[in-house]
Amino acid sequence: MTYKRKDGRKNDEMRSPIIAKVGIVPNADGSAMFQIGKTIAIAAVYGPKKMHPQHSQNPERGTLRCTYNMLSFSVEDRIRPGPSRRSTEISKITQWALDPVVMLNNYPNMVVDVHISITQADAGTRCAGINAAAMALAHAGIPMRDMVSSVAVGKMDKTIVLDLDKYEDSEFEDGEGSTDIPMSFTNNGEMTHLQLDGKITKEQLKEAAKMAQKASKEIYEIQKKALKESLGDLK
Ligand code: CDP
Repeated sequence: MTYKRKDGRKNDEMRSPIIAKVGIVPNADGSAMFQIGKTIAIAAVYGPKKMHPQHSQNPERGTLRCTYNMLSFSVEDRIRPGPSRRSTEISKITQWALDPVVMLNNYPNMVVDVHISITQADAGTRCAGINAAAMALAHAGIPMRDMVSSVAVGKMDKTIVLDLDKYEDSEFEDGEGSTDIPMSFTNNGEMTHLQLDGKITKEQLKEAAKMAQKASKEIYEIQKKALKESLGDLK
């Protein structure tokens, strides 16, 4: 049986709208929002600044520190405020996805803080957060070797599909078909992050990675356009 998407999307089609904006938090050194379908992430960057506590300082290079937080009313059931196991995991994952591109060698003992807030969640929030964070870092003028663009691929009833929404993410939760694979890529095509939750064959994983990599290029173009727009009339 071929899987048919409830919202009528093609298997390799991302949700719409995809909206990216840069410079939305005036008090931050850099900021951005990224929306995909009903999922909205906001990222604010502060720094580089002196790392506190002092024992966390790295004399070799600056540290990237990411904090992911889902706002209480971002989902239908109110989420208890404060850190959770899930938010701690996603904060780390975000850091690892972005660390390969930020160049903090010239900032020993300093920290760049990235605060990600999910204002609306409909699955794919870690990817939206990574996309917003990468733009906010660039907006803050942090030296970067490349952009990072992130999207998830899922396996629904043995079919590989791009960018699951919450309905799809939960639909096969208990069935054998449920697999969710968030991935992040540089524009150069290097993968900086992959998470695999469920079962998948080697061939299907390759197919999934190819699909995500192609979509990441589309996301990159949207991020680039938003960054250019933030420069206004600057030639
Ligand atoms: O958001 P993402 O797909 O990166 O991570 P997830 O842990 O697979 O969560 C999938 C979705 O479940 C979220 O985007 C939310 O829509 C929803 N969720 C929720 O309703 N309540 C939570 N405490 C956690 C997640």
